[in-house]
Amino acid sequence: MSFIVAIDGPAGTGKGTVTKILAKKFKLINVDTGAMYRCVALEMLNKGIKIEELDKIKEMLENITIDLKEENGVQTVFLNGENVTKDIRSKEVSEIVSPVSSIREVRLKMVALQRKMAEGKDIIMEGRDIGTYVFPTADVKIYLDADLEERARRRFQQNKEKGINMSYVEVLENIKKRDENDKSKELGALKVAHDAEVIDSTSKSINQVVREISEIIRKKKKDYKLQGKIYKIRKENAWKKFVRKVVKVFLSALYHIAYRVKITGKVPEQGAYILCCNHINYLDAAAIVLFNKRKVNFVAKEDLFTHGILFWLGHLFDAIPIKRDMQDIEAMKRCLKVLKNGELLGIFPEGTRKGMEKNMKAKNGAAFMAIKAGVKVIPVGIHGTFKPFSKVYINYGEPIDLSVYKNQKDKLDEATEIVMNQIKELVEKE
Ligand code: DC
Repeated sequence: MSFIVAIDGPAGTGKGTVTKILAKKFKLINVDTGAMYRCVALEMLNKGIKIEELDKIKEMLENITIDLKEENGVQTVFLNGENVTKDIRSKEVSEIVSPVSSIREVRLKMVALQRKMAEGKDIIMEGRDIGTYVFPTADVKIYLDADLEERARRRFQQNKEKGINMSYVEVLENIKKRDENDKSKELGALKVAHDAEVIDSTSKSINQVVREISEIIRKKKKDYKLQGKIYKIRKENAWKKFVRKVVKVFLSALYHIAYRVKITGKVPEQGAYILCCNHINYLDAAAIVLFNKRKVNFVAKEDLFTHGILFWLGHLFDAIPIKRDMQDIEAMKRCLKVLKNGELLGIFPEGTRKGMEKNMKAKNGAAFMAIKAGVKVIPVGIHGTFKPFSKVYINYGEPIDLSVYKNQKDKLDEATEIVMNQIKELVEKE
């Protein structure tokens, strides 16, 4: 899987410099998409093609080759095999590049090239529409901004260093015009992606901006690493089974010291079932898991897995991490696999602690899975104060068959209500 960093923003915000440094720092392939549009503009100038000559533009696009290479640490741009690194920064190119980049055919061709360049690679791509259009699911999205005058001053200085002859006023006017045009493009307009981090570089040094973005990239990589750990499936083997048994004996003994556990009803010794319980305390899931002869694969919110011991126990007891506030397809697949294997799945349909007390609407994922997998739901009512040495009641109900709701997606709420009503009755039972 590739890792994509998108850096968008208007001209003169320091995108190019910042991107180059970050590419080196994080070993990412650097793609300057502005340089690609500049190549197209240069080719049109070379061939004397005008903006309105669409047929000629299409023909030119069919044969164009653009390569971005790193030579001795310097980004080098090749147009049809020729080094044009300096030529694409000329005044003439700068004047027409924005309208050229507005041509639909040019954009479609460049975007296709950009996506191809990124296939299977870790990249950092700078431009105007990377986070909004080219890679809307980029891992990191930055929108770099700065005041117009400051941007013009920077670009003017840059041009001077590169030997490009443009006055400050010319640069300012050019940037202003390009900003307007880039923001009003029909396709790939310059705008802030809703999930981008906006950084204003007006009064910041390059190093400061690099530091800020580095922090964002590092955090993202760390999150991914943690997610990888959380979602890793630890295979079942004899050693894991043995450790689980020992831990279960030890923890259930501790539980018995702290609480008097009273269990009524039971879970069938074989076959797949979904145990749906009310949730009052973190210790209720532990009670279900520890006082069951069979292994109960509990669904638990993923942040629980970030705590050392819970992470270890979660993996030992094959708990299934779930992302809240979104449809977690991966978690759903794991749950269905558990049921397909004839095992027990544990779920809190309330989705949170004391959801019933707070009159919150129960989630219908359990009913959905029961119907999809063709398994019955066992309602479980737990109650107790969980004060030391108090009684904790676990009441298992009769399995509920929801198969009448098969192919009736609109009746999931009704199916869930049946389960919740049973749980309520069991909670009230001594
Ligand atoms: O980044 P730059 O100034 O070299 O870009 C040159 C022009 O190319 C800019 O005015 C807008 C256009 N461009 C674009 O439309 N989309 C991109 N992703 C990158 C650049």
